[in-house]
Amino acid sequence: MTQPVPPSVLTSEEAAAYWDDRHRRRGDLASGGNVHFDEPTNEIFYAVRLGRLLDVVGDANAAAEPLRLLDAGCGKGWFARAMARFGHSVDAIDASPAAIEASRTASATAPGRPPSYAVSTLSAWRPGCLYDVVYSVDVLFHIVDEAEWAASVRNLAALVRLGGLLAVSDWDVPERRVLGSYQVVRARRQYDELLAASGLQRSRLGRDGFVPDGFRGSPVGFHVFRRTG
Ligand SMILES: C[S@@+](CC[C@H](N)C(=O)[O-])C[C@H]1O[C@@H](n2cnc3c(N)ncnc32)[C@H](O)[C@@H]1O
Repeated sequence: MTQPVPPSVLTSEEAAAYWDDRHRRRGDLASGGNVHFDEPTNEIFYAVRLGRLLDVVGDANAAAEPLRLLDAGCGKGWFARAMARFGHSVDAIDASPAAIEASRTASATAPGRPPSYAVSTLSAWRPGCLYDVVYSVDVLFHIVDEAEWAASVRNLAALVRLGGLLAVSDWDVPERRVLGSYQVVRARRQYDELLAASGLQRSRLGRDGFVPDGFRGSPVGFHVFRRTG
């Protein structure tokens, strides 16, 4: 049921080069946040979305038994560092070597146990554990190749423990949309079908399993699923 990708969309190799270059050239938040916002506005945007992520992850933490989290497509590690500061055990991956290098540098001077970083695509990550929560902020709609998108969603789902959560940001729309050369938004039902086949069901959080950003008219939010089988 995959649909052909229009020729105007970047190839996977071009997209990877685009992100690595963007992470090298742009400042901390602009390299991962909204390019139309200035740095202070991206600061607010990130803070608001951290709150949305906490709506999903919850406020429980335990030093003796930290939550295991995966930040899938961590960029320069802003959310991963925050989650580590909150006491969680965080793995953070990104396909961009520049982003992971910047994340490691930032964590070297940050308080608490740093996230464990690795260069990896979402589809290729094979950790030695399952996670309580796998989250991915503004990554899946940048994976423009349909087969790679599906392989990425399936792999993230496979890494969620029984009862654990998967939260992936995208638009909440009834049909797939190509928004430009490096952005393809997927329909709600594409997530539902793929994840149901992987044993995950929509959570009851937010608007029928969708927690919207609610920031300046952003159409983006977290699709939230729980592993039930
Ligand atoms: C808009 S940025 C978001 C970064 C971070 N989540 C944030 O919110 O600051 C998109 C990120 O996805 C990464 N990315 C794109 N395709 C990927 C893939 N297939 N596997 C892993 N990371 C990918 C890019 O390198 C980039 O860091």
